[in-house]
Amino acid sequence: MNKPAVFVSREIPQSGLDLLREHCDVSVWPHDRTATRDELIANCQGKAALVCLLTDKVDAGLLAAAPSLKIVANVAVGFDNLDVAAGTAAGVVMSNTPGVLDDTTADLAFALLMATARRVVEGDRLVRSGTWGGWGIMQLLGQDVHHAKLGIVGFGRIGRGVARRALGFNMSVCYCDAIRAPEEVERELGVTFVPFEQLLRESDFMSLHVPLIPETHHLIDAAALRKMKRSAILINTSRGPVVDEVALVEALRTGVIAGAGLDVYEHEPKIAQGLTALPNAVLLPHIGSASIATRNKMAEIAAENVIAFFQGRMPPTALNPDVLKTPRA
Ligand code: DGY
Repeated sequence: MNKPAVFVSREIPQSGLDLLREHCDVSVWPHDRTATRDELIANCQGKAALVCLLTDKVDAGLLAAAPSLKIVANVAVGFDNLDVAAGTAAGVVMSNTPGVLDDTTADLAFALLMATARRVVEGDRLVRSGTWGGWGIMQLLGQDVHHAKLGIVGFGRIGRGVARRALGFNMSVCYCDAIRAPEEVERELGVTFVPFEQLLRESDFMSLHVPLIPETHHLIDAAALRKMKRSAILINTSRGPVVDEVALVEALRTGVIAGAGLDVYEHEPKIAQGLTALPNAVLLPHIGSASIATRNKMAEIAAENVIAFFQGRMPPTALNPDVLKTPRA
């Protein structure tokens, strides 16, 4: 029997590819850049599955132009690049990779928080510049993380991971979310549920962990930034468009807030004008889940979804499992 044909839109960790190759006929985009939409469509012709990344937009148009596709497996937990409703309408299963990157992303959010508060990157630049004149009592003064107030926006698995890390720093942690966490979770993590407005007003550090959906687009805009403390630091490891990046640049430039640690941007890989010149911003290139072990697991989960589908099993992390009742012919 022929193996199902799978297109992988960019090189992914070997463990995921090995797993796929055991069961499928796999072709991988050979270039070190994201395929254009036309290239993606061309490469999906005759393929039964697409393994894609968050830089690939999969919508009704792409699914119509690639009628052989039966499953799209995203190698990411966030799936704002997938139109799941379009997948459902077309009878195409879509999946993501939840669960395996929570701790890795929470680690990075905390690293950004620490780096921004304690001016780690500025310090590194100073030493490398060769102009450092030695220890100075007024040099690179930052903000204490210990005993500070941390506000977490979005209290899912990653938000809770950040709260757990904050415990070790004796931080006082508040959170807001559309759904309040169970009492035992609040007790275990020592966190308090507060309205968003209060979180804005009271947080020394605010860390974003919401998915990108219409309700969270520009959740942090100029008005929200003005409600924050002038000494506050904003951390974003979720999705760039959750923050109005132009408004953030202005707020950082004029001292409306004190600093920002960002892993994600509104129009990746473009960065809002002026942001890279600001010393009070620590900027990372969307590496929240980028540990070797986690990226391996993400690739393996995507592969397992594809394999399960072709073996007639429920893909373990399907986003629209009902499609299996009426899959694409
Ligand atoms: C995700 O999985 O959504 C991340 O942003 C990619 O690391």
